[in-house]
Amino acid sequence: MSAFKELVFSGVQPTGNLHLGNYLGAIKRFVEMQARDAQCLYCVVDMHAITLWQDPAALKGQIREVTAAFLAAGIDPKRSIVFNQSQVPQHAELAWIFNCVARLGWLNRMTQFKDKAGKDRENASVGLYAYPVLMAADILAYRATHVPVGEDQKQHLELTRDIAQKFNNDFSQSIAAHGHDEGAGFFPVTEPLIGGPAARVMSLRDGTKKMSKSDVSDNSRINLTDDADSIAAKVRKAKTDPDALPSEVAGLSGRPEADNLVGIFAALKDVSREDVLRDFGGAQFSAFKGALVELAVETLAPLGAEMKRLVADPAEIDAVLADGAERAEAIAAPTLDAVKDIVGFVRRTRLHAVR
Ligand code: TYM
Repeated sequence: MSAFKELVFSGVQPTGNLHLGNYLGAIKRFVEMQARDAQCLYCVVDMHAITLWQDPAALKGQIREVTAAFLAAGIDPKRSIVFNQSQVPQHAELAWIFNCVARLGWLNRMTQFKDKAGKDRENASVGLYAYPVLMAADILAYRATHVPVGEDQKQHLELTRDIAQKFNNDFSQSIAAHGHDEGAGFFPVTEPLIGGPAARVMSLRDGTKKMSKSDVSDNSRINLTDDADSIAAKVRKAKTDPDALPSEVAGLSGRPEADNLVGIFAALKDVSREDVLRDFGGAQFSAFKGALVELAVETLAPLGAEMKRLVADPAEIDAVLADGAERAEAIAAPTLDAVKDIVGFVRRTRLHAVR
């Protein structure tokens, strides 16, 4: 076991158009987690990405771009482990075992599958359906205790806890017989870390819809690669309502666009919605948007520029991923060995020493 008290795991899909929601709801918080007494693993989940068709010519670039976003945001690849999922085979191996633990009824309740499959469910990939099981494997291959994510991942994390608990129950005798019962079963019941003012960043065009990579309107989101001019233009065009900003948070209820912009401001500035309204309560949107443009450009433009600089050197990024994959595998491999013993597989005896 590692010397750290906590093990943090999270992932981001390399599906293009990384946006402000990904940054404020996830990546910025990944950086903050590095200050805890924790081993942090941050994974570019390329195997999840292909549950929907990805152009192979673009995918490698998208994987490097998410890696660049991690690094540009301040994730230190020496302190944290940064890697892409497909380089560590234990994710897929554990996912298969979990496919045999998870129940169809559980997966049938997953709202993200329903949203992504749309009306033509018969034509969705099996991978899209089994997606949350792979996600549980990502987390539990490292026996992660904490998972920082945006609010849209809540249901998937509940499923991860259900899978961990069912595995611990179904195999309790075998877990004990193999000496892996440390009092609380083999897998931890992972804590989701969802919070802050930007757990759910909404579209700039419609405050009732989540900001998303797949929205057809580019004006609905601020992409992490947008330059200062486009950031400013998108904030200025963002939908608002005709009233001035309220002076109390309760006054944001029923005003989704106002609530969203105040939440974004708060998250960018590391303060609460209350703090923002203390300064801007009574202000018109024109004045507030001016301040938001300044804050967003100040934070995001250097991030985008650093991402561009990093992706210009793919060899450097690939070296970070290779180093991360080795360190990740060193944690996941013993977990999988133990899982295979627990399940009752005859494990391969190494005839030759591996490198
Ligand atoms: P993905 O790639 O869709 O998004 C990456 C992270 O960004 C968060 N996020 C948001 N947060 C706030 N507001 C938004 N509008 C917004 N949009 C996205 C997501 O919640 C996420 O934290 N299934 C995951 C990837 C994954 C994963 C994992 C995460 C795979 N395995 C294991 C944690 C642990 C996903 O599709 O994220």
